[in-house]
Amino acid sequence: MNGGAVAAEAARRRTFAVISHPDAGKSTMTEALALHASAITQAGAVHGKAGRRGVTSDWMEIERARGISITSAALRFTYRDHVFNLVDTPGHADFSEDTYRVLAAVDCAIMLIDAAKGMEPQTMKLFEVCRHRRIPVITFVNKWDRPGREPLELLDEIEERTGLRPTPLTWPVGAAGHFHGVVERLTGRIVRYERTPGGATKAVETELSPQQAAAELGEDYARAREELDLLEAIGADHDQKTFEEHETTPVLFGAALPNFGVATLLNVMVDLAPPPAPRPDVTGARRPLDAPFSGLVFKVQANMDPAHRDRIAFVRVCSGRFVRGMVLTHAATGRPFATKYAQQVFGQDRATIDEAYPGDVVGLVNAAALRPGDTLYEQQPVTFPPIPSFAPEHFAVARVADTGKAKQFRRGIDQLDAEGVIQVLRSDLRGDQAPVLAAVGPMQFEVVQHRLAAEFGARITLDRLPYTLARRTDAAAEKVMARQRGAEVLRRSDGTLLALFTDRWRMATIQRENPDLTLEPLIADT
Ligand code: G4P
Repeated sequence: MNGGAVAAEAARRRTFAVISHPDAGKSTMTEALALHASAITQAGAVHGKAGRRGVTSDWMEIERARGISITSAALRFTYRDHVFNLVDTPGHADFSEDTYRVLAAVDCAIMLIDAAKGMEPQTMKLFEVCRHRRIPVITFVNKWDRPGREPLELLDEIEERTGLRPTPLTWPVGAAGHFHGVVERLTGRIVRYERTPGGATKAVETELSPQQAAAELGEDYARAREELDLLEAIGADHDQKTFEEHETTPVLFGAALPNFGVATLLNVMVDLAPPPAPRPDVTGARRPLDAPFSGLVFKVQANMDPAHRDRIAFVRVCSGRFVRGMVLTHAATGRPFATKYAQQVFGQDRATIDEAYPGDVVGLVNAAALRPGDTLYEQQPVTFPPIPSFAPEHFAVARVADTGKAKQFRRGIDQLDAEGVIQVLRSDLRGDQAPVLAAVGPMQFEVVQHRLAAEFGARITLDRLPYTLARRTDAAAEKVMARQRGAEVLRRSDGTLLALFTDRWRMATIQRENPDLTLEPLIADT
């Protein structure tokens, strides 16, 4: 296949994630998008939640017990001759680093916000990663069929919290809870939405003339027109360049449950969302899309299938054509990696994948040697920059319950550290028997506890530490901080020194008393 064909395949890929706070409607939106794209026959068949019909990715007991998904993979479907790769970011309250890492694999994000709740904490956290990577963000204000806030007020909040200038593509006719339809700002079309029973099929969309809208929707339409005039006056119009440069965010209003606005979102993804672009390597040079195959490992999942203790590495294709069976080079070790078992994975559905192009996500089985952030390539060597590690907010001291298992404990901790399941911190003071585990979300501790016992035979006890904040620091800080309460310096296994604090107030006090202290945010790791 020639380079032009690879570039053409890349151009029709849309690789994205939906970022949202729990309950904003991410699972519902995922189903609705896939439904519209006809990837599944009935809403509910993709994403399982407790008590809901569906394919729950229940690869671990913890997951089953809690009825949530802690795995991240990609859902693929086609729409208007475009291939969509929806990379899943678990949206529950317990975050892990994986949640953030998957954003290294996407070219665009859909920020889903609840019409009644506006910007919520988890959305902001994920948004910070998008800001850091300058990922273009499309905003979808969801649940407009239920009472909520004023649309202009929501726009203000988006701008205030994210710094992105909102440029609405659609405008709601009817306040939240009285949703009649939208005016499409680019075309001027007025679209009326009507429910279909159960929301399991596409919503009925009817185009109205301005006269019909005025007659049938009365005051609600008049109000929408006034607000549209105001938007016009302030120049809140979509601009492709500022959107791609992460300065503005197109905004859509809708409701995922009754499928209002979902088709528009898919069309916006095709028309405006950026396709895969040449990815910069560690030297800053961009690997052309039609260069030989290269891919980035953004997630490694162990024991997805309890029957076979396998490990799957999820790889985002960055350049070239992936063909199952090709032998790649693992950039970190220079060793060959055979891709006989390549899969497309979502939930428990696994389908063998034979070829893939830039933007696609491939699951490689038997990936014991691969770590998140690793590069795989064919022919022309390349190494992509490491994925930044994120600021942990939860800390606990781990000790082996049975001291006879000290060796297994150490081996297990090192293994989970290398996999990126948890960050491991140590200090001379604390010694090697009791490392501090640092996590982005508390559930990572449960995963570690479960895996150490199940895979290494080492049961552990965990004692939570009162720290909530981590900053990068230097050796000079070790001395200063040794005298402080509510703070401590520990060394991460990659050599980075982390200063931990119980809270912001404590950190500010120490910084004020020691103005030369180096304290840098951790997300700037790249
Ligand atoms: P999540 O993945 O982001 O956590 O959210 P999820 O899709 O599960 O949606 C959370 C709840 O909000 C669900 O309610 C879902 O039906 C509802 N929902 C999602 N989108 C819309 C929408 O556009 N309009 C309305 N009215 N509701 C929506 P649930 O399954 O009934 O249960 P519960 O989780 O509220 O108990």
